[in-house]
Amino acid sequence: MREVLRIEDLTVYYYTLRGVVRAVERVYLEAGRGELVAIVGESGCGKSTLGYSILKLVPPPGRILSGRVEVDSVDILELEGDKLRHARGELVSMIFQDPFTTLDPVRRVEEQIAEVLLEHGISKEEAIDRVYDLLRSVGLSERLARMYPHQLSGGQRQRVSIAAAIALEPRVLVADEPTTALDVVVQKQIMDLLDSIRREKGMAVILITHDIVLAAERADKIAIMYAGKIVEEGPIDEVLKEPRHPYTKALLASVIDIESREWPQAITGQPPDLRKPPPGCRFAPRCRYVFDKCRREEPELVEVDHGRRIACWLEERRL
Ligand SMILES: Nc1ncnc2c1ncn2[C@@H]1O[C@H](COP(=O)(O)OP(=O)(O)O)[C@@H](O)[C@H]1O
Ligand code: SF4
Ligand SMILES: [Mg+2]
Repeated sequence: MREVLRIEDLTVYYYTLRGVVRAVERVYLEAGRGELVAIVGESGCGKSTLGYSILKLVPPPGRILSGRVEVDSVDILELEGDKLRHARGELVSMIFQDPFTTLDPVRRVEEQIAEVLLEHGISKEEAIDRVYDLLRSVGLSERLARMYPHQLSGGQRQRVSIAAAIALEPRVLVADEPTTALDVVVQKQIMDLLDSIRREKGMAVILITHDIVLAAERADKIAIMYAGKIVEEGPIDEVLKEPRHPYTKALLASVIDIESREWPQAITGQPPDLRKPPPGCRFAPRCRYVFDKCRREEPELVEVDHGRRIACWLEERRL
């Protein structure tokens, strides 16, 4: 599969008055055409920061310290000004948990979708036609075109923001907890819509979620993030069948006990404060397999099998 997204050695910190937050550190990630890659981890582990970085949209006091984010071989992080504005929308776009953050409350649905097209040099006549096509493609009736965001349900609003995000057929769509605010039925409908769009358009979708069950149902590939780092990555079936990183095991056990199918077990403890992460492996304070080396040295993410990468000293012991 040809990769449309390739993230290399990405590091992003927030420089706050109370210290430097090491939100994303040395992250590598790839996504192929039409592939759904889920980024999963507890709250505060750097998932959204990683998502924003893909659009070079990290808010201050955040700073991208190093790395490349290539979309179709264009490094987004090298772009500035008009080139960057064009890349956002044409190469990569993003949807969020709460569409109110992107939708303008005082403008009609049709204007908001048309605006994306007009900003990218599409004529007014064509933009109007395209708005109606887009509304249909996200399953909304034309009747909604003249409504305002507050007149829509949560699911309809998310469909509008998806329409605006895919208006220019970007290569990569970053979806940050897109269904977390929705009820279960609507959640399924929105995920079905994202599935059909990516299949039809060959768009790669980066699904950011705290919900490993959602990832298990939808993803082709999963990347587990803990305390600013990817700790395990691989094809979804393989990771679910044989989770190898203790954090992945703990996440799965928190929803279902894999061996005995007994009651789920919550993960004990909290993720570390990213202003002063523990030395060595960042998961060590919560890991039931921890040993001496873990507290001294930090394990790198290494390929253990084709397409399977793990950052854990236990892998050395398997050899
Ligand atoms: N604007 C910001 N200023 C300072 N720190 C931030 C900001 N946004 C996020 N962080 C910190 O960066 C870390 C990662 O946050 P985030 O990327 O939002 O994680 P997630 O999406 O996994 O919940 C957290 O420690 C969070 O407090
Ligand atoms: S490196 Fe050690 S502490 Fe970290 S996950 Fe592996 S076994 Fe646990
Ligand atoms: Mg987040």
